[in-house]
Amino acid sequence: MQVFFLIFFGLIVFAEVIEEKTAVLILARGGSKGIRLKNLQAVGGSSLLNRAIHTAKVAGIRDVTVSTDHPLIALESIKSGARVFHRSPITATDWAPSIWATLEFLSSKPHIEILILLQATSPFVEPTNLIGALRKLTFPIPFDCIFSATRSYKLRWKPVGIGVTPINFDPIARPRRQDWSGELLETGAFYIARRNVVMSGSYQNNNCSVWEVSAAESFEVDSYHDLQVANVLLSSNLA
Ligand SMILES: *[C@@H]1O[C@H](CO)[C@@H](O)[C@H](O)[C@H]1NC(C)=O
Repeated sequence: MQVFFLIFFGLIVFAEVIEEKTAVLILARGGSKGIRLKNLQAVGGSSLLNRAIHTAKVAGIRDVTVSTDHPLIALESIKSGARVFHRSPITATDWAPSIWATLEFLSSKPHIEILILLQATSPFVEPTNLIGALRKLTFPIPFDCIFSATRSYKLRWKPVGIGVTPINFDPIARPRRQDWSGELLETGAFYIARRNVVMSGSYQNNNCSVWEVSAAESFEVDSYHDLQVANVLLSSNLA
């Protein structure tokens, strides 16, 4: 019975959060490095931007905004059902950290309490990931921030002088996969943070948790080669 009430209460809290104060922000500037107009590149028949907007909508988030300085990106955003925020040129330069554009957006939207920064360059994020991560922000233990991460069992080395030194293991007692819980790598796919965290200039503080995604879901499009890989995965239904 107690468990039932906990779940019931959790759902009410969650429903309220997702209704009013939660918004998705997608940063998509025109001058992306590497691939030209990267966010407009098609993967599996629709643009990366369209896919990201669709993912957010299917997850039940109605307030989805694309912050951009480019007219074609703005057009694609509107066609895909998102709002457009006119990103100022200074936040759209190569050297501007993404938090500047996020702060610019959030400062003008005082009603937003929970911000989801969603990256269009991660085309395999499932709506259920966003739903689960959002729920984890408030229930059963509240956090200030949740971000996507994937588990890694890679043994890492650091270059030191002309040699190398191990970072996360002891070479004379190499861990077996089943003997350690691995490490968590940020996937960059999404960052969920409460308003006060973002307003203090970061997506993360020391009161974060992660939402774990599979290696396949953490795939990021950075190059033309990645675009081809993503298209192959989608056309063969492996993703
Ligand atoms: C973490 O953040 C949540 C939500 O803001 C807050 O309720 C909780 O007290 C924080 N926990 C710690 C240890 O700061």
